[in-house]
Amino acid sequence: MTSRSLRILVLSLAGIACSLPSFAAGAKEACGSCHPENRVETEPSVHLAEGVTCVSCHGGDPESLRVETAHRGDFRPLTNRLQSPAMCAQCHSDLAKMRPYNLPIDQYAIYLTSQHGNAVSAGDPRAAVCSDCHGFHDVRKTTDPLNPVHSANVTATCAGCHADRGLMAKYDIDPDVVAEYRSSVHARVLLDERNSAAPDCTSCHGSHGPTPPGVGDIDKICGSCHTKTRQAFLDGPHNQAMLDAGLPECASCHSNHAIRRFEVAEIESLCADCHGEGSEQAALGAKFTNLIESTREELVEADGLITQAQRVPLNVEDHIGRLEEGRTFLTEAFPQIHSVSLDAVERVTRRSRSIGSEIQHELYTRLDRRVAHATLAVFWFYLLMTVAILWRYRQKLAAAKNEETT
Ligand code: HEC
Ligand code: HEC
Ligand code: HEC
Ligand code: HEC
Ligand code: HEC
Ligand code: HEC
Ligand code: HEC
Ligand code: HEC
Ligand code: HEC
Repeated sequence: MTSRSLRILVLSLAGIACSLPSFAAGAKEACGSCHPENRVETEPSVHLAEGVTCVSCHGGDPESLRVETAHRGDFRPLTNRLQSPAMCAQCHSDLAKMRPYNLPIDQYAIYLTSQHGNAVSAGDPRAAVCSDCHGFHDVRKTTDPLNPVHSANVTATCAGCHADRGLMAKYDIDPDVVAEYRSSVHARVLLDERNSAAPDCTSCHGSHGPTPPGVGDIDKICGSCHTKTRQAFLDGPHNQAMLDAGLPECASCHSNHAIRRFEVAEIESLCADCHGEGSEQAALGAKFTNLIESTREELVEADGLITQAQRVPLNVEDHIGRLEEGRTFLTEAFPQIHSVSLDAVERVTRRSRSIGSEIQHELYTRLDRRVAHATLAVFWFYLLMTVAILWRYRQKLAAAKNEETT
């Protein structure tokens, strides 16, 4: 007896033994009697509750308690990954079946147009199939935090293949995309701060047909969240210039995945990367830096005076509000840099700077006035003291004189 047929025999006997109670308890399918661990796996799934059971996906005879007959006819083990997308699509591309759940029916059609779907259609089982992203026995709603495609988990789901150097080398695909994404401000906001406003892999690539966005689309994808920045970029010369030069818009400065903020002091050298050291454009970049830094200085100075005035204490509610307004104008300067227009950056920073210097002026005057009042008070104090002493002295003298004469 081979070990395989031994396993079959043992499982079959176990199946018959186990099935009696569960059948009696009303379990619909005998499959779970021989495959109890798989039955347990399906319990939390969205499918089981809607009557999608073993035979819906695998076929076979749900009532048989013998291996040969249970796995009869239309039975599919689905161990061949190439078959499973079409199996899921039996229901998920069927309007009548999906309508009650208000689910779209385009996943398979989109999937077939993707690199994943193309590879699978061409007989390559290494690309993603539906179950790589959704699981198979424990398929959950996409909004379920335990779903592998939930925004908190999808990075790890894609990383399973896209961070696998050996696998990616076969396709000449960059295996560092995941590590780079993880280092980005987006991953920090999404994964560390748990703020789902930041993009995961599928926000930029799509879910069922993930494709790298091409030149001409990147500004739209980034701009779907960064609207003001995109608008300024479209208003300036760079959008057309970059399309003409085949440069990937936003990504040509910010990179694809390791997206972060630049230091304000880096701007000149960033411009010089494309336009050359000492170029007119690099000089323009340096002017942006100067405008931002001098504006920041004004606001820092104003902030310092507010703290000083609070200690006195003076009422500075109004100044705090205006300082906040000044800071908001400064943040407007960053989207405006994307228009590479000195005028635009100058306009918003000027408003911010003038708020900063107004606050400074007003607080200096009020603090000065208090200093002046204090000095005056000291002056009067000494003056009156002197007068008092002189008066007393005069009185003493007068008294002495009186004594002499009497
Ligand atoms: C009497 C016990 C028994 C019943 C009932 C039974 N199976 Fe199996 N099943 C087995 C055994 C034993 C194997 C392992 C056979 C093998 O290794 O080829 C197996 C293998 C499988 C496999 C995996 C094939 C592979 O190559 O890994 C699937 C899928 C499967 N069964 C599904 C079902 C479904 C669906 C039902 C119900 C319609 C069912 N089974 C009913 C005993 C059973
Ligand atoms: C929503 C469809 C679906 C349902 C429902 C489903 N399966 Fe599967 N099953 C799959 C797919 C797809 C695979 C292959 C997964 C892979 O390896 O990529 C699979 C694999 C298996 C395997 C072999 C691999 C393993 O995990 O052991 C067994 C055995 C199996 N299923 C049994 C069952 C049984 C028993 C049930 C019911 C309790 C069931 N399945 C319900 C889709 C389903
Ligand atoms: C590369 C990963 C990936 C693959 C492969 C994949 N999906 Fe998805 N799927 C997702 C993501 C991410 C979402 C959630 C975002 C969305 O709704 O588009 C999703 C959502 C869904 C939804 C819910 C749709 C909705 O609007 O609520 C269904 C149903 C679905 N997928 C079925 C499938 C089927 C069927 C296949 C195979 C033909 C498949 N998926 C292949 C990643 C994938
Ligand atoms: C027999 C029909 C059937 C098959 C086969 C099937 N599904 Fe489903 N699926 C459903 C139904 C019905 C629902 C709706 C359940 C609900 O919303 O309560 C569903 C829901 C889903 C959802 C959750 C969608 C959401 O609301 O977020 C995903 C994901 C999903 N299926 C993926 C798959 C995958 C992957 C496969 C193949 C491994 C598959 N399905 C096979 C019928 C099926
Ligand atoms: C099971 C492994 C696997 C998983 C999981 C997977 N992929 Fe892929 N992916 C591949 C393979 C293999 C290819 C290459 C297919 C080819 O070119 O033939 C590929 C191709 C791609 C491409 C096209 C790359 C190019 O240079 O054109 C993108 C984009 C992509 N995947 C994104 C994703 C995203 C996003 C996820 C997660 C939601 C994901 N993939 C999950 C295996 C996987
Ligand atoms: C903020 C948007 C964004 C996010 C988030 C993002 N990507 Fe990308 N991805 C891009 C852009 C842009 C490109 C490059 C397009 C180009 O250069 O033409 C790209 C390219 C790719 C490529 C192709 C690389 C190659 O060598 O051909 C893969 C694969 C990929 N991304 C996978 C992922 C995965 C996996 C994640 C999540 C860990 C992810 N991306 C997150 C925007 C994004
Ligand atoms: C799904 C929405 C979304 C998409 C798409 C998106 N981002 Fe973001 N991005 C965010 C969020 C949210 C933050 C965090 C902002 C914050 O904390 O103020 C952010 C932060 C940034 C930052 C740092 C700004 C800061 O204030 O720290 C840069 C630079 C950036 N994104 C560039 C890009 C680029 C380039 C693309 C396209 C390749 C892109 N983003 C696509 C939502 C998005
Ligand atoms: C010519 C290079 C360049 C290009 C192209 C570019 N940026 Fe920027 N980006 C910068 C510089 C310089 C800054 C200012 C320094 C900083 O704060 O990071 C910046 C800052 C940002 C910020 C943070 C500040 C803010 O605006 O809130 C975001 C977000 C951003 N860029 C998104 C984008 C998007 C979206 C695109 C495409 C529409 C894009 N960038 C194209 C150079 C560029
Ligand atoms: C990724 C490359 C790249 C970067 C980085 C870059 N530019 Fe450009 N820029 C171009 C291209 C290409 C053109 C089209 C004209 C040309 O080739 O000079 C252009 C044109 C311009 C123009 C309009 C026409 C002209 O020649 O004066 C200005 C202004 C400009 N850039 C300013 C800047 C500033 C300021 C920075 C830094 C914030 C910067 N650029 C960073 C690629 C870049």
